[in-house]
Amino acid sequence: MSATSVIGLQWGDEAKGKIVDLLTGQHDIVVRYQGGNNAGHTVVAGGETFKLSLLPAGILHHDVVSVIAAGVVINPQALLAEMDDIAKRNGPIDHRLLISDRAHVIFPWHMLEEAVLERSRKDEAIGTTMRGIGTCYGDKAGRTHAIRVGDMFYNGSFRRRLSEIVAYKNKVLTALDPQIDPLDADTVYEEYSQYAQELRPYVIDTTSYLHRAVDEGKRILFEGAQGSLLDLDHGTFPFVTSSNSSGCGVHSGSGVSERIIDRMIGVVKAYTTRVGGGPFPTELNDETGQYIRDRGREYGTVTGRPRRCGWFDAVAARYGARLSGVNCIAIALLDVLSNFDDLKICEAYEIDGVRTTDFPSHVEMLAKVQPIYRTLSGWQADITAARVLEDLPVEARRYIDTIGELVGVSAEIISVGPDREQTIFCNS
Ligand code: IMP
Repeated sequence: MSATSVIGLQWGDEAKGKIVDLLTGQHDIVVRYQGGNNAGHTVVAGGETFKLSLLPAGILHHDVVSVIAAGVVINPQALLAEMDDIAKRNGPIDHRLLISDRAHVIFPWHMLEEAVLERSRKDEAIGTTMRGIGTCYGDKAGRTHAIRVGDMFYNGSFRRRLSEIVAYKNKVLTALDPQIDPLDADTVYEEYSQYAQELRPYVIDTTSYLHRAVDEGKRILFEGAQGSLLDLDHGTFPFVTSSNSSGCGVHSGSGVSERIIDRMIGVVKAYTTRVGGGPFPTELNDETGQYIRDRGREYGTVTGRPRRCGWFDAVAARYGARLSGVNCIAIALLDVLSNFDDLKICEAYEIDGVRTTDFPSHVEMLAKVQPIYRTLSGWQADITAARVLEDLPVEARRYIDTIGELVGVSAEIISVGPDREQTIFCNS
């Protein structure tokens, strides 16, 4: 038995896609278990760039089965478009993809509701990806207006439930915003029945499939989306996503016990980024932040929004690491920090004059944080060709060690560029 989990420890976009892609070759199955097409994973393989949103990064490997498990919310139109793109550029998907019949489906009203809700929050908008993620998960938790992938194959009840839900949603939406055109249940039914037929060959009970895979000793890789600080229960609520995006979600989203996981890898960037609203203690609203944004190409994969950039926040990453129970970390985008005279790492917070290394549970407290920095010397060399730790300048190694010390878990993987080859495995 050998299972690995890859989890983001910050606010998402930690370059998990590359790490998952690197590890996929050592596994038989790759599982996406939470989130939806709000996630964006960029993988560079064979000189080609692939932008994945719902498909697990494992899909680029032809000898691996990719699973979209029960905890994911699926926009069928987006999924089919992504499958089509991958099939054209990377070869046929055939039986390499399995989709859970328990996964919930995103419908047009989810995007419409989200737009209304975000507008109503005004200055306190979450800054969501507008993909209907939160509203779909909301209906899932509410149970009355939710439809799962498997429900779409029972034509009679699917049509009846759609009519009821559309009638209800039209009432709510037009009351909230009279400008919204009511949805037509028949049109939605026709459209989604077509999607259901196209997806049908891939849909199974993935939970039982994974249970059997565990019994057979298959090697499973769990691919987290977003990051630990966006976790619905433990992140910077309400500026979070609507699923358990920390390690807490592996079990609930996949249906497989986390007891089978022997390697829990937490991925961090060498600095910190955040997209959307919410406090960000180490944010750099200056030319240093812009420099990092430009060098790191910090623009959202899904929405194209510029990401907010700042120094590495070890308090936040340590919290993410503990939440997710990681036993090693991968540090991505270290090359972006080359050519700084000095680099800063936030080692503690000061809140109302009190020093702490605990991550605050309330955003109003997080907004008051004064970061306490440790300053380290930078390095002036290009490190993108480094392949072993010894290739790195001593200052870069000190930076890596400091992150490990402050986060409480040492680094096993260092990424110094987007290509698969631009990776250092510390223990090999
Ligand atoms: P939602 O997931 O679209 O509801 O957005 C909620 C919050 O999570 C917003 O701040 C988004 O910017 C953020 N978010 C969602 N998905 C990602 C991601 O893949 N990377 C980084 N931030 C994300």
